[in-house]
Amino acid sequence: MVMLATPLRKLEHVISSEQFDRACLDDLFARADALAGHRDTRLAGRIMATLFYEPSTRTRLSFESAMLRLGGAVVGTEAAREFSSAIKGETLEDTIRMVSAYADVIVLRHDQAGAAARAAAVASVPVVNAGDGPGEHPTQALLDLYTIGSERGTAEGVHIAFCGDLRFGRTVHSLAQLLTLYPGVRMSFVAPEVVQIGADVLARMTAAGIPFRLTDRLDEVIDSVDVVYQTRVQKERFTDLADFEVARRAIRIDAEVMRALPEQAIVMHPLPRVDEIATEVDADPRAAYFRQARNGVVIRMALLDLLLG
Ligand code: CP
Repeated sequence: MVMLATPLRKLEHVISSEQFDRACLDDLFARADALAGHRDTRLAGRIMATLFYEPSTRTRLSFESAMLRLGGAVVGTEAAREFSSAIKGETLEDTIRMVSAYADVIVLRHDQAGAAARAAAVASVPVVNAGDGPGEHPTQALLDLYTIGSERGTAEGVHIAFCGDLRFGRTVHSLAQLLTLYPGVRMSFVAPEVVQIGADVLARMTAAGIPFRLTDRLDEVIDSVDVVYQTRVQKERFTDLADFEVARRAIRIDAEVMRALPEQAIVMHPLPRVDEIATEVDADPRAAYFRQARNGVVIRMALLDLLLG
């Protein structure tokens, strides 16, 4: 099987944002544009399995909706840890070997970083990483980048402020990587130290020549941002709940923050949110997070079309 760092045109798995280059992103986004509002039967007879060991609303249902809109069929389990043979002690590898015999593509969400790569190593069909613990969430990053393009025309030259849980936030890890492909991008990582971005991500930004700053104060950067990318502080990933409480109270987007945000800027969030964006922000046209989530369907249609079409 072809693994990481494989160009998308030869893709057999989607494991990491590092697999993508500008040409394949442009191709994918053009396909997504063409598929907006579209339904056909090009994937008739093909089967997608969704194996979710962690909860999901958007990723699982938008993948399933995407497959159905292209005429394919869906099998799967939404609580694989309890409702698959994992509960009897079956390994992820054995489960993937079996599901490879039942489906033409496997969409996997798991609580451990590296699980998707482990699955791809034994699968005989493409594996799509739908989130592997605190690791990566590449298809979320694709829809995030597509949203920045559709909201602002291009991702080139944007100043993006990543906020919230940057330590465990897999969507941040994946999107930061994709944005290195766009000239002129600047990044601010806005978080308290307990959930500040990891040295591994910063090393990749440095290697790519991306200017960045670290701060725990959104007001220090807000007047120059184009995108605020807020994230949920993920209680389920903390071993020390005192750290969680520090992180949870740190950055909140509310009406006061919106007053300081430039008129052309947008607020994004991979969702679900808890209270890190006040609901009073939802009616502001700069609140792009529900439009962002809706883009998940066309991006995943385009991806399934590329993998299976
Ligand atoms: N953004 C995202 O991954 O949402 P779900 O957890 O609902 O799939």
